[in-house]
Amino acid sequence: LEIYLNGLTGTVPDLPMAFDELAERARQAMPPWLWSYVAGGAGDEHTQDANTRAFRRWGLYPRMFVGATQRDLSVDLCGIHLPTPLLMAPVGVIGLCSQDRHGDIATARAAAATGVPMIASTLSQDPLEDVISHTGDTPALFQLYTPTDRDLAASLLHRAEQAGCKAVVVTLDTWITGWRPRDLSTANFPQLRGHCLANYTHDPVFRRIVGPDPSPDQIVAHWAGLFGNPLTWDDLPWLRSLTSLPLIVKGICHPDDARRAADHGVDAIYVSNHGGRQANGGLPALDCLPDIAAATDLPTVFDSGVRSGADIVKALALGADAVAVGRPYAYGLSLGGTAGVVHVLRSLLAEADLLMAVNGYPSLSDLTPQALKECGPWH
Ligand code: FNR
Repeated sequence: LEIYLNGLTGTVPDLPMAFDELAERARQAMPPWLWSYVAGGAGDEHTQDANTRAFRRWGLYPRMFVGATQRDLSVDLCGIHLPTPLLMAPVGVIGLCSQDRHGDIATARAAAATGVPMIASTLSQDPLEDVISHTGDTPALFQLYTPTDRDLAASLLHRAEQAGCKAVVVTLDTWITGWRPRDLSTANFPQLRGHCLANYTHDPVFRRIVGPDPSPDQIVAHWAGLFGNPLTWDDLPWLRSLTSLPLIVKGICHPDDARRAADHGVDAIYVSNHGGRQANGGLPALDCLPDIAAATDLPTVFDSGVRSGADIVKALALGADAVAVGRPYAYGLSLGGTAGVVHVLRSLLAEADLLMAVNGYPSLSDLTPQALKECGPWH
């Protein structure tokens, strides 16, 4: 209504309301190598496409005589009270999407303005302490890419705790980078630009590893040497022991892995295939969600392919307790900084809320698999 009322005086939104248009504008705004990095995925991007298409197989039943005039979208995730079930997925080197390279801080400001938590990536272009200090009253989460140096892992988590993060998300699916033809064609891996490693260079343990006065090349070489070893189940007790914060494991796509993680004492399961950036030829993430949600009693976070409020509602109905977006807010950032991210988040939430109203689902507990019918493919 606010938008329509503004229209009476000739004011229209600064940024597109339709996702495809927003993405096209972001493509035009970014240099081609950056667009390839942000928008691209693994292999021929079959899995990435399938992530978004999977939502179209599901239709929401509209229910009448409900009178859903008041909606409650609030949710409790691992003891963290959230006004809505939406989160910002960790997006590394997101600073590249902003004019001034401080895109992590611009994103943190959007979290403060909307109440939508940011999951701050290890790969931030400002030290995590600076990023988190801009999230206001909105809870922040920290995402860990686990380095082979255990002291460094402990240091990063300690810093996240000290900075006031409310939970830790450990990403499991990216201990090595996937086969990404677009980035290979432009021979571009942004992490290898020294200024993208500011969070590391701020870390006391990383500074000890690189020694005094390292050149930019030495920093990058030391950093690259810290990855390439995957975590195994044997490492999970160690990870668990590193922090008293809720521990969320990201990249789980098989119910057996969810059950095993639950047995190891993690606090939530994060279903994701990294937006199709890591392994092509995989299942659409949405197809993994129902079995995983049913496999444990733990809360389930979901991402990969969410592009609309309708997608959020469908993921919630299929078992997610919270839903995250990656590329959509990165596009918003590239077009309008903090205001662009706020625009994207508010649009997603407004559509989800309106759908719940129109379809007669006043609260998140009404969103069950029975709210959906599988009736596609429509693509
Ligand atoms: C990511 N993602 C990611 N995940 C993570 O755990 N740590 C990270 O640093 C990054 N970095 C990153 C960079 C870029 C440019 C993108 C697009 C994604 C994955 C991200 O958290 C999330 O899983 C996906 O983006 C979700 O899919 P959609 O919403 O982009 O389709």
